[in-house]
Amino acid sequence: MPFLEWTEKNKTNVKTCDDQHKKLFQLVNTLYDAMKEGKGNDVMKKILDELVGYTAYHFSTEENLMQKYNYPGLVWHKKEHEDLAKKAKELKEKSDKGEFIISSEVLSFLKNWLNTHTMGSDRKYGEFLNNKGIF
Ligand SMILES: [Fe+2]
Ligand SMILES: [Fe+2]
Repeated sequence: MPFLEWTEKNKTNVKTCDDQHKKLFQLVNTLYDAMKEGKGNDVMKKILDELVGYTAYHFSTEENLMQKYNYPGLVWHKKEHEDLAKKAKELKEKSDKGEFIISSEVLSFLKNWLNTHTMGSDRKYGEFLNNKGIF
């Protein structure tokens, strides 16, 4: 079983977003595997950079969609995204300075955040968009 598994519980039922979530989950798993295999900082940093970049791209996809359809929970949703983006930025700064930062703790945090956010907040906008005919 992968470290972070995408299941029906994470499904927003909006295809673009589900595809992006699957890719995000995969990147977290790649990072986890790299850590388990004891890969060097350069490898870890490369995966982390990709994860941070893809997360930013994903958040903007969601926020644009929510804005386009006047989702009433946009402000709160954006705030949740900003909290993670802030944490990701801190990690990236540490890794840029050469401080080793990928630990089981960091990975568990990412796993929990992504699981909770997709199962809760993301599914809420999914339902809203589905009701507008967006899948
Ligand atoms: Fe989200
Ligand atoms: Fe999401």
